[in-house]
Amino acid sequence: MSTPAPFRSASDGTASDGTAAVTLTLDPAFTVGPVRRRTFGSFVEHLGRCVYTGIHDPEHESADENGFRGDVVELTRELGVSTVRYPGGNFVSGYRWEDGIGPKDQRPTRLDLAWHSSDPNLVGVDEFMQWARKTGVEPMMAVNLGTRGIQEALDLLEYCNVPGGTHFSDLRRANGHEEPYRVKMWCLGNEMDGPWQIGHKTAEEYARLATETARAMRMVDPSIELVVCGSSSSAMETFGAWEATVLEESYEHVDYISAHAYYFEEDDDLGSFLASSVDMDHFIESVTAAADYVRAAGKHTKRINISFDEWNVWYQKRAESVPPTGDDWPVAPVLLEDRYNVADAVVVGNLLISLLRNTDRVHAASLAQLVNVIAPIMTEPGGRSWRQTTFHPFAQASQHAVGDVLQVGIDAPTYETARFGEVPVADAVATRDPETGAVSLFTVNRSTTETTTVTVDLRALRREADGQGVDVVEALTLANPDHTWSATADDETSVLPQDNSTATVDDGVLTVELPPVSWTMVRLA
Ligand code: AHR
Repeated sequence: MSTPAPFRSASDGTASDGTAAVTLTLDPAFTVGPVRRRTFGSFVEHLGRCVYTGIHDPEHESADENGFRGDVVELTRELGVSTVRYPGGNFVSGYRWEDGIGPKDQRPTRLDLAWHSSDPNLVGVDEFMQWARKTGVEPMMAVNLGTRGIQEALDLLEYCNVPGGTHFSDLRRANGHEEPYRVKMWCLGNEMDGPWQIGHKTAEEYARLATETARAMRMVDPSIELVVCGSSSSAMETFGAWEATVLEESYEHVDYISAHAYYFEEDDDLGSFLASSVDMDHFIESVTAAADYVRAAGKHTKRINISFDEWNVWYQKRAESVPPTGDDWPVAPVLLEDRYNVADAVVVGNLLISLLRNTDRVHAASLAQLVNVIAPIMTEPGGRSWRQTTFHPFAQASQHAVGDVLQVGIDAPTYETARFGEVPVADAVATRDPETGAVSLFTVNRSTTETTTVTVDLRALRREADGQGVDVVEALTLANPDHTWSATADDETSVLPQDNSTATVDDGVLTVELPPVSWTMVRLA
């Protein structure tokens, strides 16, 4: 493991006891925008064990009449997931949605070319909608613009959103689902810029198809919200130009452009890994710039915002991410089952900080994915389920980020990273509920060696509270002397967010100590 270079002083740099000192400034008068529930979305793809033995496991003792695991429903609720994107991902680019409706014993098993697997189609659109309703999440659908096109997207939309009296809406009713699902958010394909994608297209080819699909889909249901594919990562050679070309054609027909980003610790460079959100901030800024360039050049008035509908830590180079080969086309193989440690959880928390801080332009996001596949929730087939380390920052932020996102000024010492140059040792975002005045501060310490003392002047908050005192309601920190600790089915609780008793308010100033490689939430009232 590499150790980041020692702190460099920002203003005064170090506290009197030698720990790094970070000063945060916030004022309720300065907000970025509202906290959006859709920032706390996730993703269920027909990939590995996400669907089969993940959300769906008819043999499991907690399974309902539709085969859905009750324990996973409960954990999804506890995680605080808002929207769930379905059914892919790379999978969707070869998917025939009609395979997954009607009597289960008549559904075909198909090759899934994206993940070299077989799909028995026991879960399809109707089952997913049942699961979404039971779990209390908003479904977000993707249509296949890889092997298919406008007509099949229209058919699926008709099946989902038209009340009745037409072929596909009546088919839905005949399948036992009288009421339309009225799905609001639709993704126009998935990662169509990626050469690995089935039906991969140039920006020009995709722009035409996405625009015409969007136009036709809105003829069926003008109330839908459409996400056009941006780049599958900011490292793509076509990044930037892809966004501009696609939006030049589709601008007036879509609402969001997608962004996807996965991070992992490369070459034992923990210092860079812990600063991954620097890259996410830059990614968001670049996509926004491309969208606003098209807005200006095209003399459009509306804004295109970002659906960050795949983000997470993903160790793509590890063996568990390599699909089967040859004649082996298994159903629900173990794929992408990353085990997350404490450092991974700190990075996930920091990425959430970045998404919240950019709430003016990031209007939706999906943690990829929900169960088993690069996921906060893990299951054993027919057995136990448990929370990975990454579960906790997501659940805390989803529950306690309420109201408006505040602008946070950060004055922090920096350290040198190989990937991003000098970066602040701490990062933070804060939200404030205008109805109750409650403030939640989410912060990370990226140092691998030093405790960081964070100081926040609360006087502006006190003014808003008519001079009443501001107090700490709760302060929780996720950290461990061994940041490589991972949860398992046998032990998911020995490292959990713990009370941080250093959080105190004295004379209108909050002080809290953050241990090395840590995530902290402080709630104030
Ligand atoms: O989330 C895993 C995969 O990552 C998705 O299928 C794809 O869209 C992305 O490349």
